[in-house]
Amino acid sequence: MEQVLTSIDVGTSKTFTTVARIRDGRIAEVLGTGIVPSHGIHKAIVLDIEEPTAAIRESVKEAQRASGVEIKSALVGITGHHIGSFNNQATVTVSRRDHRVTQRDIDRLLRVARQVHLTEDKKIIHAIPREYYVDGEPVIGSPLGLHCYKLGMEAHVVTAGVTFIQNLLKCVQGAGVAVTDLILESLASGEAVLEDDEKESGVVMADIGAGTTDITVFKRRAIWHSRALPVGGYNVTKDVSIGLRIPFDVAEDLKIKYGSVTPDHEGPEDVNLDPAGRRSVKYEELCYIIRARIEEIISMVFSELPRAEWETWDPTALVLCGGTANLPGIQALGEEIIGQRVRVGRPRGLPEATVSFADPAYATGLGLLLWGTKYGNTTVTSPDNVLRRFFSQLARFRFSLPRLRLGFGRRARF
Ligand SMILES: Nc1ncnc2c1ncn2[C@@H]1O[C@H](COP(=O)(O)OP(=O)(O)OP(=O)(O)O)[C@@H](O)[C@H]1O
Ligand SMILES: [Mg+2]
Repeated sequence: MEQVLTSIDVGTSKTFTTVARIRDGRIAEVLGTGIVPSHGIHKAIVLDIEEPTAAIRESVKEAQRASGVEIKSALVGITGHHIGSFNNQATVTVSRRDHRVTQRDIDRLLRVARQVHLTEDKKIIHAIPREYYVDGEPVIGSPLGLHCYKLGMEAHVVTAGVTFIQNLLKCVQGAGVAVTDLILESLASGEAVLEDDEKESGVVMADIGAGTTDITVFKRRAIWHSRALPVGGYNVTKDVSIGLRIPFDVAEDLKIKYGSVTPDHEGPEDVNLDPAGRRSVKYEELCYIIRARIEEIISMVFSELPRAEWETWDPTALVLCGGTANLPGIQALGEEIIGQRVRVGRPRGLPEATVSFADPAYATGLGLLLWGTKYGNTTVTSPDNVLRRFFSQLARFRFSLPRLRLGFGRRARF
């Protein structure tokens, strides 16, 4: 099956629109992209309407021009400190006479798993099955067709702040694009960079962007834990700017051009701090400033890990992506800190012509397309007034997602 899909990653540093041809769940061709600097976004949160809307509009225009595709709707990522997650258990009785589990039972179970009391400023954006139980026994994979009296499920529920959802939707819609699905960014990045066997045996993924570090733990192919830390590459640049007493933009340029977490990597002996060469700093000093902040970020990720069990995971424990994962030496530093294998995750399975997108900074944008194709149906939102408009947009502009069960198939509920 082939589809042309669009994603928009409204990041703290960049707004990234991608139009791609998806075939059999993989990116067959990137038709066009639009990458423009973000404005009015702080730690992945929309703090202004006009500036982010203008950036989205520009990035969409650029992607339209490059792809020749008119963009009417898109899969959109969301993250930030307002994201919450917990695991919830649900049970339903399988009442068919032959007691075989049907898709209706699984759908019913998911609806029960979503029935949690939330304060009115929070909404569920995902309810993802982690594990099924038939009469109290865990099953491998889907319970569809199994004999059972009581069907149980443990689901990972992800919530987001209504204010932040609304402001993001307002910006995207204000740029003339309907939102087909709102997806937690780290889930999207995981789709792009993780191997299936890593998700099976257990892996932690940390997307270190500009404003946030999004952590997701996968195990037995399911999501185990998710969290967004309000720290990222922006803090690294800020440290360089303060430490070397140079403007933020100059610090950002130095970091990208020479930055490394270890001075062992090839670099100049001294780094000029102004174009005229009047001030310079030892290359080592620049690297130590960067290293200190990256050490702190990786240690924060480490403190989030389910350590009691993860030491048995095999073979890669931590996968780093996001633009900050481009820092030379970050993999070795990660291994030094956590004492387990670390790798830098790049979007995988890309066709040869698009290898330039195999950059960890593009993980979310490309992953949104993959997640949307694969699991569009697992995005679940409460049928209340606040999000009614969002879902009527979804219904009008939906794509023909392959395994659509909960969302649009049940349009009448919204
Ligand atoms: N080669 C590089 N070396 C060091 N840092 C880099 C490099 N390339 C990008 N970065 C940093 O990565 C960050 C941007 O990453 P990314 O594009 O993943 O963030 P974002 O999606 O805009 O932000 P967020 O996900 O936090 O909202 C910036 O802080 C940038 O300085
Ligand atoms: Mg990002």
